[in-house]
Amino acid sequence: MQQIIFATKNEGKLREIRMIMEDLPVEIISLKDAGITDEITEDGKTFEENALIKARIIMEKTGKLTLADDSGLEVDFLNGEPGVYSARYCGVNTSYKIKNRNIIERLIDVPDGERTARFVCVIAAAFPDGRSKTVRATMEGRIGYEEKGSNGFGYDPIFYLPEYGCYSAELDLEEKNKISHRGKALRLMKDILIRETGA
Ligand code: IMP
Repeated sequence: MQQIIFATKNEGKLREIRMIMEDLPVEIISLKDAGITDEITEDGKTFEENALIKARIIMEKTGKLTLADDSGLEVDFLNGEPGVYSARYCGVNTSYKIKNRNIIERLIDVPDGERTARFVCVIAAAFPDGRSKTVRATMEGRIGYEEKGSNGFGYDPIFYLPEYGCYSAELDLEEKNKISHRGKALRLMKDILIRETGA
């Protein structure tokens, strides 16, 4: 069976991609399974650049088709911040309690209509013949006025989904995967893999 590397150390992301790709005749292996321990510097200016940097480096090391993702939160009132710096916002070791509170404080008195935001996920594929492809998907919402919910991670407790009348951290994983930026991007990438690998 063809092996595809998903360049992440995050077990949750691996579970998600394996669930979505489970009906394809491919085996999704992690960086650890591929014996790779290197830290890769994500110094790109866009989600696409960062995802491609990771996918290409690992593909060149292993010779195997490699997927990599990059994601983050864009807040329109903050001109797209924290964007590609989402994990590093307020400092990489700063808790999400503080990061989230900081965003709510920066949006104090900002009316509903100007609180629009989105989670973005880009997935890159680097093919052994040197070609590469990226897909991008978003989950649109608004920054709430408080933190709510205990599911999810990161910025989920401040991300309000008007269409669903709840915060992202109030969705269970299965519900979130159906509508999330990452779930949608993974399904777009699945279609590419089916075309490219004949899976
Ligand atoms: P990375 O793609 O693993 O580098 O993640 C980037 C950062 O974006 C995460 O550390 C979170 O801060 C944020 N992020 C990305 N996706 C989500 C999500 O689904 N919920 C909450 N935060 C997210």
